[in-house]
Amino acid sequence: MSEKPSKYYVTTPIYYVNDKPHIGHSYTTILADVLANYHRLLDVPTHFLTGTDEHGQKVQQAADANGITPQEQCDQTVIRFQELWKCLEIKNDDFIRTTEPRHKTVVQQTLQELFDRDEIYKAEYEGWYCVGCERFFTEKDVVEGNCPECGRKVDSIVESNYFFRMGKYQEWLIDYIETHPDFIQPAFRANETLGFLKTKELQDLCISRPKSRLAWGIELPFDAGFVTYVWFDALINYISAVGYKSDEEQFKKWWPCSTHLIGKDILTTHTVYWPTMLKAMNVAMPESIFAHGWWLTGRTKMSKSLGNVVDPMDMIDTYGVDAFRYFLIAEMTLGQDASFTEEAFVKRYNSDLANDLGNVTNRVLNMISRYCDDKMPAPASSADAGFDTVLEDGLWKEAIAIAGEMGSLIDNMKLDRSVAMVLSVVRKINVYLQERAPWALAKQEGTEVEVAHCLYTAAECLRVCAGLLYPVMPGKMHALRTALGMADAKPHLGKLSEFGVLIPGSKISQPGALFPRIEAKKTDETSSLVAKEQKPAKKKNQPAEIGNQKSTPGLITFDQVMNVNLKTAVVLEAEKIEGADKLLKLQVDLGDEQRQLVAGIALHYKPEELVGKTIVVVANLKPAKLRGVKSEGMLLAASIGDSLKLVTVEGNLGAGASVK
Ligand code: MSP
Repeated sequence: MSEKPSKYYVTTPIYYVNDKPHIGHSYTTILADVLANYHRLLDVPTHFLTGTDEHGQKVQQAADANGITPQEQCDQTVIRFQELWKCLEIKNDDFIRTTEPRHKTVVQQTLQELFDRDEIYKAEYEGWYCVGCERFFTEKDVVEGNCPECGRKVDSIVESNYFFRMGKYQEWLIDYIETHPDFIQPAFRANETLGFLKTKELQDLCISRPKSRLAWGIELPFDAGFVTYVWFDALINYISAVGYKSDEEQFKKWWPCSTHLIGKDILTTHTVYWPTMLKAMNVAMPESIFAHGWWLTGRTKMSKSLGNVVDPMDMIDTYGVDAFRYFLIAEMTLGQDASFTEEAFVKRYNSDLANDLGNVTNRVLNMISRYCDDKMPAPASSADAGFDTVLEDGLWKEAIAIAGEMGSLIDNMKLDRSVAMVLSVVRKINVYLQERAPWALAKQEGTEVEVAHCLYTAAECLRVCAGLLYPVMPGKMHALRTALGMADAKPHLGKLSEFGVLIPGSKISQPGALFPRIEAKKTDETSSLVAKEQKPAKKKNQPAEIGNQKSTPGLITFDQVMNVNLKTAVVLEAEKIEGADKLLKLQVDLGDEQRQLVAGIALHYKPEELVGKTIVVVANLKPAKLRGVKSEGMLLAASIGDSLKLVTVEGNLGAGASVK
């Protein structure tokens, strides 16, 4: 990993409690959790803060619509956020609610101090107000009577209010951003803020709302007729939660914040309001503010009115929390927008998790079980190896190279790239096994040390990969590392690259299918996760249809083809069945499990010719007994006249790949 920081303090935006959380909120929180996990596993003192933004017009309006008080609205909705974070295995160190006294006191003290120093003044204001954004705009900003941010109609307003002298910090802020290239990330977002600061005069910020218009907020300490503007209140959470004005020691420990994670929608409030507020308060700037892009449904913005908002709870229930976390991290290039569709989710899940990671885990564990009696084998030392270890050495080098790059990938917020690189090593372990074919090696005399070294190296590489993926999928990676026989399955990311961590002789276990494949049918069944047009229910016994495809005598539909689950399998063992001249009994590796097949190919293949071959198997055939021997699937073979040839797969796909 790259050089360790002395501490790491990460925040998410605090979320409005006007509605239940959706995938966008989940994303920022998962991202913060992954970053916090990485730092914790590097032994960096870490503080991860999230919370809820409970004041302001949005919450008041939601309460009115629900016929409850704003406080009841907050108390009911905050639970939904907290429960979702638990289900998503979010390990935040603190959760701040802006209605808590610890926050309100700090906001009021700050306001008083700024008012006393004439950083806040009272004036009459005439302008345009957007209720949705809770922001004032000048005549020049407004676009044909609509809000320049969200496009909704703005209202003309004349009222007395309090203002923060934000405008006077314009030149200072431009200079600060220009001299601190890491302050706003990605760099194009810094340019966006600079573009705005260099072309428009920065106005003072209205930081109050008259109670006659909005009563739900923190009362101004110097004028009981007003409450605090929700953004001025909310931004202060980042310091009130870590002891600003209440616990100097704690504040010194965590501030300045390492990274404020935000969505691109709240760039201005974080890169203009917040720094100028801190400057006026004489508080140090956060180290960085990182704005990520939006999750879209396909190519469309997610919105309640379009009915295309993804509910994270449904995703977790259907696919499991680790897979959901993995998808979000793997699929979004930080800074850019990303598209969420369930089809893309299933595709990535099956290829990365079921086929690659799940498959290699099963292969390694199954072979250790079979050839090493369920015990972690011992590596051969180079002195006594007595055989060529070039493949093993190469594979290990690949694994530790990725571990070495991880730190800079994380520092540069290239999280999607980091998981892609780990998955590339996972695939290399699979290719290595295919090439080394320990199952064939094990058949030869005197190869125990070689087989042991091969399986040990594969297991060590898998240990490294699981360690690197641990921050993203803590539950499953803990299970994987435990299965490898590790008593302390939690990784120390700074020590991943030492070879020989797995203890020879320790008992391995079978974790079951870590990532069971999602069959095509399930995608159909679960596509209701994202609200879609309702389809009329299919009548009983009606043939399956896709689009215009109907069953026609002699032809089968696409659906019927998709119901046959064809998979690649690697033959581990083959033997004759006594008393049955034509039958062979095979043990095959199906990626996530081992199966026994009985096949009528004895007249065409000798058992030893089959071991190591990658064949194609019907994986969802009902088990049957042939001559009293259980067969759990059927292999595919092509035959004409007396000739028969197995259907095999080119290249090194390995076991468990789906055949379509
Ligand atoms: N309360 C303010 C933030 C105050 S921070 C001092 C707020 N809250 S919010 O509930 O609207 O949540 C905003 C954040 O949720 C966004 O900045 C972003 O982090 C996340 N997202 C909401 N929808 C999103 C997507 N569709 N995609 C990605 N993230 C988005 O604004």
